[in-house]
Amino acid sequence: MHNSNPQAVDVVVIGGGVIGLAVGWYACRHGLDVIVLDRHQPGHAASYVAAGMLGPIAEATPGEEPLLELGLASALAYPSFVAQLTSASGTPDIGYRECGTLLVARDRDDAEALQRELELRHRFGLRVERLLASEARRREPALAPTLRLALDVPDDHAIDPRRLTAALTAALTTAGGRVAPGTRASALALRDGRACGVQLGDGTLLAAERVVIAAGAWCDEIDGIPPPARVPVRPVKGQILRLHDPAGPGLLDHVVRMPSGSYIVPRGDGRYVIGATTEERGFDTSFTAGAAFELLRDAGELVPGISELVIDELSAGLRPGTPDNLPVIGATEVPGLLWAAGHRRNGILLAPITAQLVTDALLGKPPSELAQAFAQTRFHRAPLGSAT
Ligand code: GLY
Repeated sequence: MHNSNPQAVDVVVIGGGVIGLAVGWYACRHGLDVIVLDRHQPGHAASYVAAGMLGPIAEATPGEEPLLELGLASALAYPSFVAQLTSASGTPDIGYRECGTLLVARDRDDAEALQRELELRHRFGLRVERLLASEARRREPALAPTLRLALDVPDDHAIDPRRLTAALTAALTTAGGRVAPGTRASALALRDGRACGVQLGDGTLLAAERVVIAAGAWCDEIDGIPPPARVPVRPVKGQILRLHDPAGPGLLDHVVRMPSGSYIVPRGDGRYVIGATTEERGFDTSFTAGAAFELLRDAGELVPGISELVIDELSAGLRPGTPDNLPVIGATEVPGLLWAAGHRRNGILLAPITAQLVTDALLGKPPSELAQAFAQTRFHRAPLGSAT
């Protein structure tokens, strides 16, 4: 691809979370010279806190069909994404588990709600099996005897996000890309109306042909984005617990999603993650007693054995939320400026498809119908521009 300034890199990605790293790796694999900036340490913000459930079907919501379609496309891409990343990063195990997910109901009201969830998923043609409590407990003996009903979602799985981002960093650098930790992007640089790089926190200019904004909940800190290409992004707090079983693996195999929407993600080695709250509290990342109480209560009612687990970590992360709560992916009206942000509860799941769609845009391909539903221009009702 033509580079008008030999000093400039082809692509600078602002943000080294799972999305920025995946975009950077894909772009490198397509021959682009890439640098990923991170204000602290790559993979150590929201991606580090995430549980890693890959649950487009379990989390399907009426009215969010485009998001379901995007999630299903990404889930479908996951096995080959994992295989390629495993080999490219030299990481023997990046913590991907095809474990399936169970949605569980504790009482009659929950069971009626679950029945409606089943009907919704069947209307979408998704693979979900209704299980009587006895069958669900045969498949997961740790479920409480008081269980009323369960749905088995065999195609929703899980990955360890910390291993994933470490592997993406290794694959990106092996492919010739660069990662710049501790590097804050203070402003987008423009020349003649097109993106020409990034003004760094220390005042220097990093020249680039294309700039991808993947700064998660911190996108609003980047100055200089022309109003028609802007998207307000707010932090959506999630508090989460990490635990392990001193007796080793075996308590749970499936991801289990509770009626409250909280969930338990087993890592397969005796470690478990119980998450997560969804709170609008600005940039607060404190972990509260109330959150710990509610997460443990909800999980313990359906999986009583979690009371034997040892708590390793309480943490809170900031998911990035756009005004319509959908991600913003691809080109903008400003030539050379692209978005890969606003993935809210779905960043880990949507990393492969986002990387694919953004790389297509970087290579000058017109956006697919799927990509158009997530275009930045939806916030400004303007025709879709070209990134090239
Ligand atoms: N994907 C689940 C969450 O963000 O809590």
